[in-house]
Amino acid sequence: MTYSRISGTGSYLPERILTNDELERMVDTSDEWIRTRTGIVERHIAADNEMASDLALNASRSALAAAGIQAAEIDLIILATTTPDVIFPSTACILQDKLGVGGCPAFDVQAVCSGFVYALATADMFVRGGRCRNALVVGAEIYSRILDWSDRSTCVLFGDGAGAVVLTQSDQAGILSTHLHADGSHRETLAVPANIAGGKLRGTPFVMMEGNAVFKFAIQVLEEAVEEALAENDLRASDIDWLIPHQANIRIIQSTAKKLGIPMEKVVVTLDKHGNTSAASIPLALDIAVRDGRIKPGQHVLLEGVGGGFTWGSALIRW
Ligand code: UT7
Repeated sequence: MTYSRISGTGSYLPERILTNDELERMVDTSDEWIRTRTGIVERHIAADNEMASDLALNASRSALAAAGIQAAEIDLIILATTTPDVIFPSTACILQDKLGVGGCPAFDVQAVCSGFVYALATADMFVRGGRCRNALVVGAEIYSRILDWSDRSTCVLFGDGAGAVVLTQSDQAGILSTHLHADGSHRETLAVPANIAGGKLRGTPFVMMEGNAVFKFAIQVLEEAVEEALAENDLRASDIDWLIPHQANIRIIQSTAKKLGIPMEKVVVTLDKHGNTSAASIPLALDIAVRDGRIKPGQHVLLEGVGGGFTWGSALIRW
């Protein structure tokens, strides 16, 4: 039987840190409101000349080094982003060029904050199906460019960053299951409702969110997603060693953990330092918990995310 395993992880955060204190001077908000309502303390912001592909490149190099392989050994690149470098070509193709490799398939996945789980699930099928040996799966975002910095209800929430994994063929199960869902009837609840026509911008090129509606939906579907993953693998919540949720709001994370009876000590939280980095949030948190030694071989790691679309899903991994 052929399976896929994560053989290396990497991440990258831009140098500039934007604190809640600085935001207090930009909009009518407070460090206290942001901390208590979201759990965020600071976030990283990309430099003007940095693009999503640059963040992705740094995270990918680190994942390739951890996997002990050269870029030339990658035979598939899937990159999840909502903030591509340009309309086309895909940021995955730009990343492929920056890595100095050509020939293998490379494409973007657009599933907003669930993007990494979507990309991982897709790569898993390529690897398990025998179509590729080493897949590079990346989440990379520069949300600071699609935020209205005068809108306190959104600008305090997001940050920039990238995370990457190398998924390698194996005869031992690594990715045990993936589940993906979407419900487009909620497409207006969280969106950047803009496009370009005839060289002109049409619509609003900023994140627009009905925060409360997203909050309630997220709590409901994340619990269902975790239960679906556990049921498929005949596991109980107590069998999960690490829950790596999408990092949007500490109250959503705590509520999901509590409903499932998973203690917060088993939940990886990076939200305080990164903010919500959309498709990058899960691989960033994963890389941090792998590198600091929390995640150990043989453990069960559950990734789950929800985002615009709405989209949501999970990946259950034996490390
Ligand atoms: O990544 C994709 C998934 N995204 C999410 O999961 C985000 C989900 N939603 C959330 O995390 C929360 O809904 C928010 C953090 C966005 C908002 O928290 P909330 O508890 O739902 O607050 P709210 O929107 O109901 O607003 C409460 C109050 C309002 O004032 P009034 O009307 O009660 O006077 C807002 O105007 O808080 C006010 N407010 C702020 N106050 C200070 C909103 N933003 C701010 C702010 N600083 N930055």
